[in-house]
Amino acid sequence: MKTINDFKLKKTEGIPISLITCYDYWSAQIISETDIDAVLVGDSAAMVMHGFESTVNAEIEMMSYHLAAVKRGLKNKLLIADLPFLVHRKGDQHVTETVDRFMKLGANAIKIEGAGSNIKIISHIVNSGVPVMGHIGLMPQSVNSIGGFLVQGKDDESSKRIIDEAKSLEDAGCFSIVLELIPAQLAKEITESINIPTIGIGAGSYTSGQILVLQDLLGMNKDFNPKFLRKYLDGFELIKNSLNKYNSDVKNKLFPNDLESF
Ligand code: KIV
Repeated sequence: MKTINDFKLKKTEGIPISLITCYDYWSAQIISETDIDAVLVGDSAAMVMHGFESTVNAEIEMMSYHLAAVKRGLKNKLLIADLPFLVHRKGDQHVTETVDRFMKLGANAIKIEGAGSNIKIISHIVNSGVPVMGHIGLMPQSVNSIGGFLVQGKDDESSKRIIDEAKSLEDAGCFSIVLELIPAQLAKEITESINIPTIGIGAGSYTSGQILVLQDLLGMNKDFNPKFLRKYLDGFELIKNSLNKYNSDVKNKLFPNDLESF
């Protein structure tokens, strides 16, 4: 998938869209050789790659560094970059400069969390010729006001608010919307009530597509086991065992052997 037009087309044709996060060159090279549709340089980099407790610590410099590395490794896939914490609240010029920087580093689109008072800046960015992906439901950048990484939209009032937010993001010109940690039935209602694709994470199976954090899918964090996550690999154990095997080969003088020597 190379453009946002493919996103729309897939929803129209009822073909699910697959996205994955990516933060570095070597995993971008692997993803390039898969059939996954698109890649997000998420601000989850702050947690996954830097060990912070939330995405609040993602900075423009941090995101630029990861985005540039991914761009160098990624071939022929739509690349989306997250706008980090509060950037879109610091005035039009600041946001425009950051978006400009991310697009010049190779992003094809920008993801922005939230609707409501962000709608004005979102439509400003869209009208500047930059595709925007919305993000509602659980918004990790607001984890401190939400009180944790909690499922959103569980009562009538909040589910109605999230539906309204989805419609306002579509009206603002977003090409798709991430729905994070909301009940599957609510995600279904949203997906059916707007024309742009919805991309779910912890939002059940009725969305137009799914996104997961690469390291979560690969089982790299053995202590992260939320209900919504399916681990396709026990990466933590596999890598640990490989490192231990290397260590024992070195200590037993089995590595390097003659063939591995000059
Ligand atoms: O930052 C991120 O990785 C995200 C996805 C999980 C949607 O926002």
